[in-house]
Amino acid sequence: MAMGKKAMKQLNEAAKFLKKQYAGVPTVGIVLGSGLGNFTEEIEVEKEVAYEDIPHFPVSTVSGHKSKLVFGKLSGKTVVAMAGRFHFYEGYKAHDIVFPIRVMKLLGVETLLLSNAAGSVNPDYKVGDLMIIKDHISFFTPNPLIGKNMEELGPRFPDMSEPYKKSLIDKAKAISVAHNYNVKEGVYVAVTGPTFETRAEYVFIKVAGGDVVGMSTVQECIAANHMGMQVFAMSVVTDVGLQEVHAVISHEEVLEAAKRAEPKLATIFKELVAAI
Ligand code: HPA
Repeated sequence: MAMGKKAMKQLNEAAKFLKKQYAGVPTVGIVLGSGLGNFTEEIEVEKEVAYEDIPHFPVSTVSGHKSKLVFGKLSGKTVVAMAGRFHFYEGYKAHDIVFPIRVMKLLGVETLLLSNAAGSVNPDYKVGDLMIIKDHISFFTPNPLIGKNMEELGPRFPDMSEPYKKSLIDKAKAISVAHNYNVKEGVYVAVTGPTFETRAEYVFIKVAGGDVVGMSTVQECIAANHMGMQVFAMSVVTDVGLQEVHAVISHEEVLEAAKRAEPKLATIFKELVAAI
């Protein structure tokens, strides 16, 4: 079977399995980043499905991430959330990382909300700040659309002039203002990890036009854009790469900082879903 055909068949099998597990039609998909998995508590859960039970689904390996799809209601809408995402540094291929996003689309999802923990290279940002992603740079991780184009999903050469939907960004900014949250807006640079950046690399990322750097999100955003989904994404700044001369970054610190910022992110996501 041709590569594209086989991949499409696997996606359809996963979607068919999930439709049997849960009868609702989710229109919003949510991906929870490192230390942000507790957001599932905001959802009126109607069904949980472990990744390992879903045909062809990858299984996540990193601590701080759970491994299940959560279906239910959030702000009156039917949603599906990934508690635990897949990262390139775990050894997955780019098309494995976006497999769940493509399945979401087949289930009915039109809007995708992404969250992540990221390191800042912008001197105005502090640990614990939230940043709305307005654009990204994806030159350092493989594009998930490389290979035969899956015509059923989208075009060979997708436009990326508005990878993060302007109208959702505007709504999120209004929500942030209403709550007196000081939310930044900036550019996310995707790297493979799993090493954090060297000081020279943080400088390079800043010079390249980035505000934050992280190991996720961009491949998911690309696959979602390919399929015509609207995307909104937010980073929690968990470390500041450039400002502290002797800064040593640990995964534990990243998880801690993400947990502290989680309630604000949860409020923004909840109210954004209500406004969609
Ligand atoms: N670099 C890359 N990924 C990250 C960082 C960082 O500083 N912090 C959290 N994820």
